[in-house]
Amino acid sequence: MTLDLSAFPADFLWGAATSSYQIEGAVDEDGRTPSIWDTFAATPGRVDKGDTGAVAVDHYHRYPEDIELMSDLGLNAYRFSVAWPRVQPDGLGTGNAPGIAFYDRLVDGLLAKGITPWTTLYHWDLPEALEQAGGWPVRDTAERFADYTAIIAEALGDRVKHWITLNEPWCAAFLGYASGIHAPGRTNPADAVAASHHLMLGHGLAVQRLREIVPDAEVGCTVNLYPVTPLDDSGRHDDAVRRIDGLMNRWFLDPLLKGSYPKDVLHDMSAVTDAAFILDGDTEVIAQPLDFLGVNYYTRHVVGAGLWPGSSDVRFHLNNGLETTDTGWDIDPQGLVDILSQVQRDYPAIPIYLTENGAAFDDVAVDGVVHDDNRIEFLESHLTSLATLRQQGVDIRGYFAWSLLDNYEWSEGYAKRFGIVHVDYETQKRTPKDSAHWYADVIKRHRTAT
Ligand code: NOJ
Repeated sequence: MTLDLSAFPADFLWGAATSSYQIEGAVDEDGRTPSIWDTFAATPGRVDKGDTGAVAVDHYHRYPEDIELMSDLGLNAYRFSVAWPRVQPDGLGTGNAPGIAFYDRLVDGLLAKGITPWTTLYHWDLPEALEQAGGWPVRDTAERFADYTAIIAEALGDRVKHWITLNEPWCAAFLGYASGIHAPGRTNPADAVAASHHLMLGHGLAVQRLREIVPDAEVGCTVNLYPVTPLDDSGRHDDAVRRIDGLMNRWFLDPLLKGSYPKDVLHDMSAVTDAAFILDGDTEVIAQPLDFLGVNYYTRHVVGAGLWPGSSDVRFHLNNGLETTDTGWDIDPQGLVDILSQVQRDYPAIPIYLTENGAAFDDVAVDGVVHDDNRIEFLESHLTSLATLRQQGVDIRGYFAWSLLDNYEWSEGYAKRFGIVHVDYETQKRTPKDSAHWYADVIKRHRTAT
C-alpha cells in the first residue's frame, strides 16, 4: 500500500493524542483530588488486574521527555486533556494554582518545540465530589463544567487556541451510567440519557465561556462515530441499524450540528425516560456554532435485531469476518469513509479533525525495538481512507494518532497497548515502535513534498 500524501494540504495537522488519567499519574500531587476514575479503579472487580492510573506512565513528571519524543517524531500538534480535579479540586471554587501550573509548563514546552497544543477539557475524569453530588445525570454538573472551563480558559487561553470541550460523550454517558463498565459504574439507562443531555448542555455552556474568554479560539467537540451495518441484508435488522446509529451517532451529531435531538431516538428512549430534564432553550445552548468537529474512529458496528436501551435484545459490535485488533474490534478502514460520507451527506459542512485513530496490538519490545507492522498497516489504511475522503470533498484538516504512548486503557488496565511509543511499565522507559518511525517518515515526506 502506498499512501498518496498529495491529498493532504501543506497545513495538515500531524498529531498524536493522549488523556490526563491515562498518562499523568501523580493522582494526589499538588492539590489534585480524586476523580471518578480513581474511585472506580480502586473498587475491586472493576478494572482488569485491579490496575489504576495512580502512576500510569508518569507523564506528570516525565512530560519534558515526552515533548522531546513528539518533537523527534515531527508532530506539529498534540492533543491532551486537562484533569478537572487537578485544576479545580472537588469541582468547585477557584482554580488550584499548582495544578494549573503543570498545564502551563506543558503548553510552554510544546510551543517551544513548534507543536500546537490541542486541549480537551473533559476526557472522563469528573471530580469524585461532583459524582457524590449526583454526577452527570444532574443538571448542575453542566454548570460546574462551564465554571471549570472558564478557569482553564483564563489560564491557558493566551497560548492555547484549539479547544475540544468533551471527548466521546457517548462513552461518558452510556458506559459510565448504563452499562457501568466505565466510571462511575452505574447501571441505570435513564441516568445515562440524562447524563448525555447534561454533557451536551455542558458542552454548549463551555463553548459560550470559551468564546468570551478566548475570542480567537477554535472550538469543537469530539464524538466517537461508527458506521452501523446490518448482520445480513434480510431486512430483519434494519430497525436495529436505525436504533444503534441513532443512539451512537445521531444522538450527539444532531444536537451539535442541527440544533435538535433526533425524534426517532427520543421515541426509543421513552421506554426508559420521559426526558423531562431537557428544558426549553437547552437545544439552542447546545447548538453553539463550532469551528470544527472532532471525530474518533476505531471500528464499525455490525448489529442484529432487537431493542436497546431498556432491553437486551439488540446485539451490536458483532464480528462479521474482518480481522480484529487486540481489543477485538473489527479493522475497517472503509468504515471511516462510510461514516464520514454519512456526516457529509446528512449535516451542514464543517471542518473535521480525526482526533483519535489507532489500534491495540500485543507489542513486545526486544532490544529497544518493537516491530508493529500490524499497527503500521492499520494507520496507513486509515490515512488512505482520509485521502479518499478529502478527494471526495470532505474537509479533513488533521489526524491525531491514538496514542502517543502506551497507557491506561480504562477498564482493560495496562493490558492493551495503543501507543506508537512503547512504555515499559516497570521502568517507564519509552521506546518508539516501528509505527512511530513510520509515522515520522510520513510527516517528513509530506513536509518535503508541500
Ligand atoms: C477512545 C478514548 O477517547 C480513549 O481514551 C481510549 O483509550 C481509546 N478510545 C481506545 O479505546
